[in-house]
Amino acid sequence: MSREPIIGENNSSQSGGDSNATPLQKSSPKKATSEPQMDEDRSLRPKLMDEMVGQADIKAQLQIVVDAAKRRGEALSHVLFDGPPGLGKTTFARAIPNELGTTIEFASGPSLKAPKDLVPYLTNAQEKSILFIDEIHRIPKAVEEYLYTAMEDFRIDMVLGEGINARTYSYRLSPFTLIGATTRAGMLSAPLRDRFPIRHHLDFYDLPELKEILLRNAKKLQIEIDDDAADELARRSRGTPRIAINRLLWVRDYAESKADGKISVQVATDAMKMADIDNLGLDKQDRQYLETLIRVFGGGPAGVEAISHTMNGAVDTIEEEVEPYLLRINMLVRTPRGRKATSKTFEHLGVDPGPLENPDRLF
Ligand SMILES: Nc1ncnc2c1ncn2[C@@H]1O[C@H](COP(=O)(O)OP(=O)(O)OP(=O)(O)O)[C@@H](O)[C@H]1O
Ligand SMILES: [Mg+2]
Repeated sequence: MSREPIIGENNSSQSGGDSNATPLQKSSPKKATSEPQMDEDRSLRPKLMDEMVGQADIKAQLQIVVDAAKRRGEALSHVLFDGPPGLGKTTFARAIPNELGTTIEFASGPSLKAPKDLVPYLTNAQEKSILFIDEIHRIPKAVEEYLYTAMEDFRIDMVLGEGINARTYSYRLSPFTLIGATTRAGMLSAPLRDRFPIRHHLDFYDLPELKEILLRNAKKLQIEIDDDAADELARRSRGTPRIAINRLLWVRDYAESKADGKISVQVATDAMKMADIDNLGLDKQDRQYLETLIRVFGGGPAGVEAISHTMNGAVDTIEEEVEPYLLRINMLVRTPRGRKATSKTFEHLGVDPGPLENPDRLF
């Protein structure tokens, strides 16, 4: 089982050297596939909360609970992060064990298909260590129920044998911390959500924060970028650090190939144009969504399924990746009858709302 190395600590333990000998055969849990493995991503990701930009309230509150847990010598309470993709849920989850001086193991919701997939993670968790479950909204009910006693009482019940030989064994776990991350907090059942005493919602970043992230990453990567080019890229980053970094990497390549390697406003604008990213940072998929809503559904209201099917897109992707930012910048509203475009949407796409029916779509 792979463990994340800890900053400043030489920890080579592989699997729970604790006294909890399990009667079960341990299977090796799969590593989360959603984790980016690129070296560049790893070196760019902040390792401590102090190195993270923005999210000041969350950082301050987490610092308090981390300090308190360290002082008491206890495991940190379970933590749940939710919010759209690329805003720092995994970055926080990776920083916490570094702050605590402990280890972290990674699991992902879709790979935990049955309780037996979860058991090795739980039995291998060492005292005060972190178990991170990404996309936790995707664990099936049976696995979720198994987590309840593990989280609350640090105990799991296992049935061994079959028929009249079946026996239930209660197995004590070392007190550990579960960190869950989800892009869909609404899909988490209330009993699971309530078992996380610490819950934080990550919101989009503002322009100065995105600019700071761009400048810090440019420095790490030794990219030369003008101040106003950083402003321009920040504006086109959809409020999302991951997108900001990806766009910086694209513009760096563009600058190296088409210019003298330095990122000026002109280079940044040309590179964005070539990648089909508009002046608000919206990409092709965002615009296709808005075009469909306006041209096919007359600006709405329209159900997300109908819009997704018309676009030939996956409903999940639309709900998780496209809609949150459009809602945030008031290009979309949600009503009980469905999604609706706003006057800003018509304006941005250059469509005259006049001839379309359904006048109550405008705000
Ligand atoms: N607060 C921050 N300060 C600086 N960089 C950040 C911050 N948050 C995120 N990043 C950068 O953005 C990248 C994406 O963040 P992260 O992987 O934590 O997002 P996520 O919320 O886990 O997304 P997903 O839902 O897709 O898993 C990180 O690799 C990191 O480099
Ligand atoms: Mg993540």
